[in-house]
Amino acid sequence: MIRFLKSWFAGSEALDEESLLSRVRSGPIPRHVAIIMDGNGRWAKKRGLPRVAGHREGMKTVREIARAADELGIEVLTLYSFSTENWKRPREEVDYLMKLPEEFLRTELDELVRRNVQVRMIGDETQLPAHTLSAIRRFQEATRDNSGLILNFALNYGSRDEILRAVRQIVEEVQSGKVDKDAIDEAVMNRCLYTAGLPDPDLVIRTSGEIRVSNFMLWQMAYSELWFTDISWPDFRRNHFFQAIEDYQHRSRRFGAV
Ligand code: IPE
Ligand code: IPE
Ligand code: MG
Repeated sequence: MIRFLKSWFAGSEALDEESLLSRVRSGPIPRHVAIIMDGNGRWAKKRGLPRVAGHREGMKTVREIARAADELGIEVLTLYSFSTENWKRPREEVDYLMKLPEEFLRTELDELVRRNVQVRMIGDETQLPAHTLSAIRRFQEATRDNSGLILNFALNYGSRDEILRAVRQIVEEVQSGKVDKDAIDEAVMNRCLYTAGLPDPDLVIRTSGEIRVSNFMLWQMAYSELWFTDISWPDFRRNHFFQAIEDYQHRSRRFGAV
């Protein structure tokens, strides 16, 4: 009897996922979804594990959600992986996080190439350890010509840093006569940001219960829809992702109009 109930529940969960997925597929798919992947440390602590165990587990979620985004035909999935403020963490944790791109390369590159995914990075590359940067470069080279999902890692990314860099670049362009001061508009700014050429995020998701943006895409998020969940990133499943998108599909985006 118990076995029957268990398989019945498992079956009905699969059915739920199927119907959620088909509902989501029939609605407008966001072009760009950005995720503040939070809660790895707390996930680990709750289990009596070191914080890095949460980061390791979180990598599995990255794989699952990247697959789901690809299946839905989302154009860009940006994952906030390391902020310009995360250097304040203990050395061992930072070292561990800086090794994850290599690990991800080793385990995921083949599938990403097969799926026609293009891997990109936004953030300040100059401060990354050489081994981290070389993994990123290998991803970029191996996937440069792919035309499917853009899997965009925000690594050593800070929105204020990004805006300051853009301001410096614009000042240089004005000084050299390339741009007229009065011609500085949103398009000029967009061109000078790390996200140049990408659409603004339609939907920003943050896991693990914090209701803040932590220096993420402050300019680009001007009209994004926001979705927060208490679920920690390692526990975040494709169903939660579809749920976020279904909610997004019911929002009325007005962009200041009526
Ligand atoms: C998100 O999880 C991953 C990174 C910021 C690198 P956290 O490590 O912030 O986990 P919590 O918020 O401390 O639980
Ligand atoms: C934001 O999470 C950065 C990333 C997800 C990479 P944090 O855990 O660093 O943010 P705060 O410190 O809680 O605001
Ligand atoms: Mg956190």
